[in-house]
Amino acid sequence: GAVGKDGYRHYMEKELHEHPLVIGQTLQRMIDPATRKVVLPEMPFDLASLPRAVITACGSAFFAGVVGRYWLEEIARLPVDIDVASEMRYRNPPLTPGSLGILISQSGETADTLAAMRGLKNAGLPILSVLNAEHSSMARESDVVLGTVAGPEISVASTKAFTAQLTVLACLTIAIARARGELDETGEEELVSALLDLPSRAAEVFTHDDAIRKMASVVAEARDVLYLGRGSAYPVAMEGALKLKEISYIHAEAYAAGEMKHGPISLIDRTVPIVATVPSGVLFDKTLSNLQEAKARGGRLLAFTDEAGADRLSAIAEQTIALPKVHPFVTPIIQTIGVQMLAYETALLKGTDVDQPRNLAKSVTVE
Ligand code: AGP
Repeated sequence: GAVGKDGYRHYMEKELHEHPLVIGQTLQRMIDPATRKVVLPEMPFDLASLPRAVITACGSAFFAGVVGRYWLEEIARLPVDIDVASEMRYRNPPLTPGSLGILISQSGETADTLAAMRGLKNAGLPILSVLNAEHSSMARESDVVLGTVAGPEISVASTKAFTAQLTVLACLTIAIARARGELDETGEEELVSALLDLPSRAAEVFTHDDAIRKMASVVAEARDVLYLGRGSAYPVAMEGALKLKEISYIHAEAYAAGEMKHGPISLIDRTVPIVATVPSGVLFDKTLSNLQEAKARGGRLLAFTDEAGADRLSAIAEQTIALPKVHPFVTPIIQTIGVQMLAYETALLKGTDVDQPRNLAKSVTVE
């Protein structure tokens, strides 16, 4: 039947609040509660002997793939190529035989992703799709479908489907890492615990709504916003910037924080706020020093960190939001909820049509 807004002002607000539920449902599908091990459906290929993976998708689904690349390379030691589907489909890249093609899509109908998928398939690659619409064109043409259990997503701006994609990619990473001998029992238990912790920790993000609204009041005044992050927090910055552009019509750009001094630092002044995604962890100090450079040029720093990074960030940032401290593996999932909420609150202040932003379609079924 028709999906209602359940008392929320917009579908996007409702769907943002479904993050904890959707992450939990997706994990239920992939983790055996008795053994606490990731269990994937039967695969017509051997995860242990994949030479590489090729990931392709569009928009937010592409950013989920970029997080997936950080995970697959670092944890499973699997080399990954990734590109947006509109480029991948015409690039005619040399493909290593036996590589796995990974597609990510909410709708399963995006024209470019479908075409890129057919290209990889014609080249002989097996196709694994991460899909929310399990009865879609991509589902029919894939060798294996890993479902994101996000339910219908009505808002044009993707929210819960994105965190569900990350959840699936995290589980896939664990399974591939195990198959390749890169993860022992203890290692898997540690990562699975981090995932199972997520639904309750994700729910805690909503307790920061006042602080996020305050941050939105600065962003809403800007014409341009720079999003910065490093490591797996960099694609989170990309997701934050895309969401802001889509629904608030404010220009935003994401940069790998270490790349800022190679160009975009010349943009920085009081009128260009910087939204930084900086979870505690190995890249924390590096990111902090990039942000210090930005601040020295007059930049207004608005930071998403976690409870362990809050003191050091609030010493330099105008506003700091301390999201729940989780295992470093899953920080991009928690940070994403923060930047998506910031985009939503900013759009509310701008008075835009949040669920149906101008010029955009939920699913882009033409090239
Ligand atoms: C995200 O907020 C977008 N509306 C858009 O980038 C979307 O993620 C992209 O069009 C891909 O769609 P799909 O997941 O249905 O393939």
